[in-house]
Amino acid sequence: RQKSSSVICSSRRDYVPNYIQDPNYVRIFDTTLRDGEQSPGATMTPKQKLNIARKLAELGVDIIEVGFPASNKADLDTVKSIAYEVGNETKDENAHVPVMCALARCTKEDIDKAWECLKDAKFPRLHVFLATSDIHMEYKLRMSKEEVIDKARSMVAYARSLGFTDIQCCAEDAGRSEKEFLYEFLGEVIKAGATTLNIPDTVGFNLPREFGQLIADVRANTPGIEDVIISVHCHNDLGLATANTLEGVYAGARQLEVTINGIGERAGNASLEEAVMTIKSKRELLGGLYTGINTRHIFETSKMVEEYTGMQVQPHKAIIGANAFAHESGIHQDGLLKNRSTYEIMSPEDIGLYRANESGLILGKLSGRHALKSRLSEIGYKINKTELDDLFWRFKSLAETKKVITDDDLIALMSHPVI
Ligand code: KIV
Ligand code: ZN
Repeated sequence: RQKSSSVICSSRRDYVPNYIQDPNYVRIFDTTLRDGEQSPGATMTPKQKLNIARKLAELGVDIIEVGFPASNKADLDTVKSIAYEVGNETKDENAHVPVMCALARCTKEDIDKAWECLKDAKFPRLHVFLATSDIHMEYKLRMSKEEVIDKARSMVAYARSLGFTDIQCCAEDAGRSEKEFLYEFLGEVIKAGATTLNIPDTVGFNLPREFGQLIADVRANTPGIEDVIISVHCHNDLGLATANTLEGVYAGARQLEVTINGIGERAGNASLEEAVMTIKSKRELLGGLYTGINTRHIFETSKMVEEYTGMQVQPHKAIIGANAFAHESGIHQDGLLKNRSTYEIMSPEDIGLYRANESGLILGKLSGRHALKSRLSEIGYKINKTELDDLFWRFKSLAETKKVITDDDLIALMSHPVI
């Protein structure tokens, strides 16, 4: 990717590196350190967060949401130190410098704290939010529609007066908001100086087609929308976060808010690895869209987040689960040995996963002779058909007693031939 120091200075987007002016470029906004850390039990130490931020920069994310400085003093200190350490040019002049973003409610105190943390970063961004759904305005905010618009407009203007030029404004619970009101809210914050609009499905309640339609409607009806970037932020309460995110892109969003391993509030957020690998795998069908992610860092980043948060990735999790590239059934193993694309839609090396054995096959009770012979040959045994027939049945009886047959098991079987 091109490094982000080449900046286009237009009135609005003076912070935007020029490679992302391409209409097909999809920005990746990673919120592992903010929404991800809001997963129950996922708290990380400041040092761990710094390590993750460095890894996210290496992964090539465009924007890192480093935290919510007004939520507590520890978060404020961490955001400040990450913005300084990761959000500035280093000695390596080719290193990618991501935008540093902090979350704030629509209050001067929150915005002041965000500015205090970010002002020395190379590309500082404020992410300010206010709810726009009837249910949130009535029960949580106890504010009228006019008050909500007034507050958002004045706080965006206040942020500009402090020095923020990159301002993301979020209509919290947009997925359940009344559309006419949403267009008005968004149009007003654009006039006040917002440069990115975040349209979240805060409670993960939208269907993909419903969410795609929402983004299309926002694009068609919001005054001034052509001057800003639309961002989507989807939660996974119905298991639809990634699907909704991709529908959002299809409808014109050019920023995706995601987390590593999909961690986040309740059932989590859309996962970075799923969204990015889908865009990469389906680039043609998606009209040439692409991201700046160096996908070969995905696996390592996922492992780091898993270790630090203690939130274990389920084995069958798409892209990064332990079984995502494991094949046990005999028919599948036979197909793979003939041509990997029979049962693999991407290669594990694309996400930086290097197989423990060349074939990548898991030997177990469903495996066939072909896979057994292939693994034996990888570990140095050349056997003829009679030997294979004998070994295969002993292998099958052993596999009835344990889940996975290891190389040591094979060596033990080979050292006790029956014939
Ligand atoms: O889910 C959500 O709406 C959020 C916003 C506060 C950005 O996380
Ligand atoms: Zn969220």
